Amino acid sequence: MSDSSTTHQTRTGDEPAAPDPLDTDSVVVTRSLTKIYGSGDAAVKALRGVDVAIGRGQLTAIMGPSGSGKSTLMHIMAGLDRPTHGTVTVDGIEITGLKERDLTQLRRDKIGFIFQSFNLLPMLNAQENIVLPLTISGTPVDKSWFERLIGIVRLEDRLSHKPSELSGGQQQRVAVARSLVGRPAVLFADEPTGNLDSRRGEEVLQLLRQSVDEFGQTIIMVTHDAHAASISDRVLFLKDGMIVHDHGSMASDDIYDVIRSLEGVCPADANGDGDARSLAAVLCAPETAAAEVVGAAAGGSDGDGPGRAER
Ligand SMILES: Nc1ncnc2c1ncn2[C@@H]1O[C@H](COP(=O)(O)OP(=O)(O)OP(=O)(O)O)[C@@H](O)[C@H]1O
Ligand SMILES: [Mg+2]
Repeated sequence: MSDSSTTHQTRTGDEPAAPDPLDTDSVVVTRSLTKIYGSGDAAVKALRGVDVAIGRGQLTAIMGPSGSGKSTLMHIMAGLDRPTHGTVTVDGIEITGLKERDLTQLRRDKIGFIFQSFNLLPMLNAQENIVLPLTISGTPVDKSWFERLIGIVRLEDRLSHKPSELSGGQQQRVAVARSLVGRPAVLFADEPTGNLDSRRGEEVLQLLRQSVDEFGQTIIMVTHDAHAASISDRVLFLKDGMIVHDHGSMASDDIYDVIRSLEGVCPADANGDGDARSLAAVLCAPETAAAEVVGAAAGGSDGDGPGRAER
């Protein structure tokens, strides 16, 4: 874990500094991101002004109740969808201003994906699936990097197997290797363990952690699983399209308490020790109106951190 894993940020600081898109420690920076689906009475505000800077070489988890905007935020940060307002910068390039062709190129060059459903091509074997992004872009395979990756994902003896001949965990390891083969500036993982049993899920989590620790990979992972989020350096909690809590590395029990309180279920010991529990207590206090949480998300103050979701 990086040093910052011990930093606890509660999104309740004084007037926050805006994230700096040129900040080289940040790989992804969003400014005032909003996303409205539909229009008129049917309009859904999926994101309501998200400002966040994702630190390079960190594993960041995005959590929140169903419908809170996690997938929307991730898709917009990854250039798979466009915001209604606001900007996204990836590795110093403002992607929200790019034409579709340039955006496709940027996704190819700088972004890796791991999906819950693996998304491997059934007619290709493991090796062909892994190098597919390079095949598509006509980039030669860096043989030593490929071999190192295969060693890490432990697929040496499965490279000629088709996805149907691999277990779920092995298929996801192929997907992890594929996402890393082009050394992306940032890797997005949407519920990467969602379709795996706990042991296979654990293997994939270890793999993600290892890629951060050993070669400084930046990873943004959407997950519902408190244990999965507990391996990350930072946990962002979304509610109703806003970041309502931004925290350093957390124990899974504390993550679970915060999630439950965001879902309106209060932990019995919400008044216990620790930043996360006190947040759960704040969220659960009878007098806490939704507006207070919203106020915290918008940079309201109780002086417990820099406030803006920024590293
Ligand atoms: N294409 C769409 N058209 C209309 N509304 C949408 C669309 N996609 C998402 N939404 C709405 O936007 C809000 C945020 O959705 P999103 O998929 O980002 O949530 P989520 O946090 O990923 O939820 P889950 O945990 O269930 O995957 C939800 O209210 C959802 O119904
Ligand atoms: Mg989702």
